[in-house]
Amino acid sequence: MTTPIYYVNAEPHLGHAYTTIIGDAFTRWHRLLGDDVKFRTGTDEHGLKIQQAADAAGMSPQEFTDSIAPKFSHAWDRLNIAYDDFIRTTEPRHVAAVQELLQRCYDAGDIELDVFEGKYCVACEEYYSDDELVDGLCPIHRRPVEYFEEENYFFRLSRFQDRLLDWYAKHPTAMKPEHRGNEALGLIRGGLRDFSISRTSIDWGVPLPWDPTHVAYVWFDALTNYLAATGFGDPDRDYTEWWPADYHLIGKDILRQHCVYWPAMLMSAGVDLPKGWAIGGWLLSGGEKMSKTSGNTVKPLDLIEDVGLDGFRYYVLADTPYGADGDFTYEGLVGRYNADLANNLGNLVARVATVVDRKCGGVGPAPDPASTLAAAAATAVADTTTHWDNVQPSRALEATWQLIRATNAHLEQNEPWKAEPGPAVDAVLGDALEALRIIAILASPAIPDTAQQVWERIGMPGAVADQRLPAATTWGQYASGAPVVKGASLFPRIAS
Ligand code: MSP
Repeated sequence: MTTPIYYVNAEPHLGHAYTTIIGDAFTRWHRLLGDDVKFRTGTDEHGLKIQQAADAAGMSPQEFTDSIAPKFSHAWDRLNIAYDDFIRTTEPRHVAAVQELLQRCYDAGDIELDVFEGKYCVACEEYYSDDELVDGLCPIHRRPVEYFEEENYFFRLSRFQDRLLDWYAKHPTAMKPEHRGNEALGLIRGGLRDFSISRTSIDWGVPLPWDPTHVAYVWFDALTNYLAATGFGDPDRDYTEWWPADYHLIGKDILRQHCVYWPAMLMSAGVDLPKGWAIGGWLLSGGEKMSKTSGNTVKPLDLIEDVGLDGFRYYVLADTPYGADGDFTYEGLVGRYNADLANNLGNLVARVATVVDRKCGGVGPAPDPASTLAAAAATAVADTTTHWDNVQPSRALEATWQLIRATNAHLEQNEPWKAEPGPAVDAVLGDALEALRIIAILASPAIPDTAQQVWERIGMPGAVADQRLPAATTWGQYASGAPVVKGASLFPRIAS
């Protein structure tokens, strides 16, 4: 599982955190399924944009990237991102992989010298034809483009149209969600232009192995990180142990490079294609893509101080259907926190612990094997699983939260707090504890710390992350007799 590698011209912002948190939760979900997952992220450190940012900061590019890259790994640590590898494109293992891939494409005859002439957006590190520009400006950044003319090596992308269409026809669900996949197919059907893969005008990059007067174009360089992380280019490693990747998580702005350029480069080099791409929309702020260039970025770590780590993670995962654009507002963040976490999950946990304390002496009773909640739990497990399979975290969490709502309703219907202690009260509370056990497992990819706290408060031993699906989520496994702990409020309400 991979995230994009982030440009180090800016510090990590909510837009970067968005894809990374989704990758993390998706990784954790697959670990619950028992899959052996490697999750890798990293930083994109070469190219004109970084060189310009370093110049502006009065530093060498290497000094500059060395100063920013740790801010990303630090942010991911604070956001509880379970990454196994953090690759920087300035590392020797990456440089070796880029040179290996270039050489293979060159040997295959798909890289040739030609003259490049055209418009280039430095913020995108991408070329545009006149008809793609909007009022003469970059369609994404709305900034002036630069005119370039130089002798470059070109990758003969135009030769790959049929091969790409054939491959996608044979792998119709490789790109998710479907409407984003269709955009990529549209780009391919619209005709493919060769693209320049080298530069002589800058030297901050990886030299071409057969002609070191050129450095590799930053996208050829950056995409290869996915292979570099598997040991490609290292004669002592078998990169196919971890390649092909199961999922590249990307934003819609980098669809062309990932779903058109990258598979063609791999085909040329004789390397297997990734098995899947999950393509997200943008988080907008004031209606625009959050980016350094637009000056409307939100620092993710500031938000943790307000709604807690899991409050923030939950919002990012739950608020926007993956693939669509979402609009970040502070009111939206607090509103969702109060509704789903404080009022629903937090309230349920507090209520169950309080009533178990009062009516059952603080010891959890057994659930009713024939409880009406069992069906709600089975539905929640099935739907949560389907939505994670489709890389739809917001829908997966909605399905999990249905069980929270059903459990709150079950308690309200039976009102155990009003009844005398006895078997009837025990059964209702046992049901609620069993539902909480299943909820903790299902919610753990999104809110790992909170899920573990719920797990411990209801008296379950060990780590919730060590549970395995589907066996762990069948109804009736809550063992009676464990101490149920009240504890402080998991999600105190925030005044809005
Ligand atoms: N370095 C390239 C990616 C190379 S991958 C081989 C790059 N970097 S980036 O830092 O500009 O953006 C990386 C990813 O972050 C993109 O997929 C982009 O969509 C995502 N996001 C950046 N800002 C975003 C939002 N405001 N909202 C959602 N995702 C955003 O592109």
